[in-house]
Amino acid sequence: MTEYKIALVGFGGVNRGLAQLVAERNARWQASLGFSLKIVGVSDIFLGSIVNRDGLDAAQLVALPAEKGAFAKLHGGTAEAFTETVIRQSGADIIAEATFTNPVDGEPATTFCRWALESGIHVVTTNKGPIALHGSELKALAQRNNVAFEYEGSVMSGTPVIRLARQALAGAEVQGFEGILNGTSNYVLTRMQEGLSFAAAVAQAQQLGYAEADPSADVDGYDVRLKVVILANELLNAKLQISDVACSGISNISAEDIATASRNGQCWKLIGAAQRQADGSVQASVAARLLPLSHPLAGISGATNAVSFTTELVGAVTVSGPGAGKIETAFALLSDIVAIHTSQQQ
Ligand code: HSE
Repeated sequence: MTEYKIALVGFGGVNRGLAQLVAERNARWQASLGFSLKIVGVSDIFLGSIVNRDGLDAAQLVALPAEKGAFAKLHGGTAEAFTETVIRQSGADIIAEATFTNPVDGEPATTFCRWALESGIHVVTTNKGPIALHGSELKALAQRNNVAFEYEGSVMSGTPVIRLARQALAGAEVQGFEGILNGTSNYVLTRMQEGLSFAAAVAQAQQLGYAEADPSADVDGYDVRLKVVILANELLNAKLQISDVACSGISNISAEDIATASRNGQCWKLIGAAQRQADGSVQASVAARLLPLSHPLAGISGATNAVSFTTELVGAVTVSGPGAGKIETAFALLSDIVAIHTSQQQ
């Protein structure tokens, strides 16, 4: 029976969700997936860090209060985040990186990924920054060190998108996509259709935990732009930088705009899209668009995300599902580990 030793970098909602899945489902995974996980280290800038090569109690980690320096309460733990030690010296086979997304330079997450990959340790991450900003460098580093670098959860959390398009649509010739890739903005637009003000709808999205720490990343389109760059580079083999993608958001859509659209049988959606052009280049954009109610993305409401791939051989293929959430995003990390396990068996 295979057991992967895993270290968790960042212990906010997502990796806490993964620890919860380990606590509740490890025995089941042995039978259904052919492996189990042993958590050998955790590091978090706020909580501190802990390493135990014999394995940490996942349930005890989940129960840890979200208080500054809380890892110091555990035997062998410390209030300081010794992240490099956790990555390089915990004996981990896999690092689950789920620190905050930094859209400017992808740090410190990119450095954490580099430390792991150059040490010959697989990386699974939900972090958009390292992929959108340094994806090709990190993929090359993984390849040189013969380890995996997987990031399914960086777009649409646990809803399969990257691997679905890369594997199940291989050969169908994906030519482009358009998607609702931000739960917060779609939630805000949906609630505004129901009569709520923009500010009240954003506040609700924050309370529900969908919004980024700074919700302007959600409503001004910057979060979607990262996801468009990731998908375009991954699925259309583009070489887009963030600055190549024209970006606007939903903050200037008024209640009157929403009501007018509704009267005309239309709705506003924040759409991230990329399309291969006749000359082979890829054009991408993020903008609010008026859609007819018959459009496949018009019925996607609330925090749900969806992406519609345009393919040469099977036309439009649309997948929808959650785009955020603690357990949903933790599942994305699990799906990355399943992918690593499958590749190890071949
Ligand atoms: N703030 C993001 C959203 C979370 O609302 O979709 C997932 O990237």
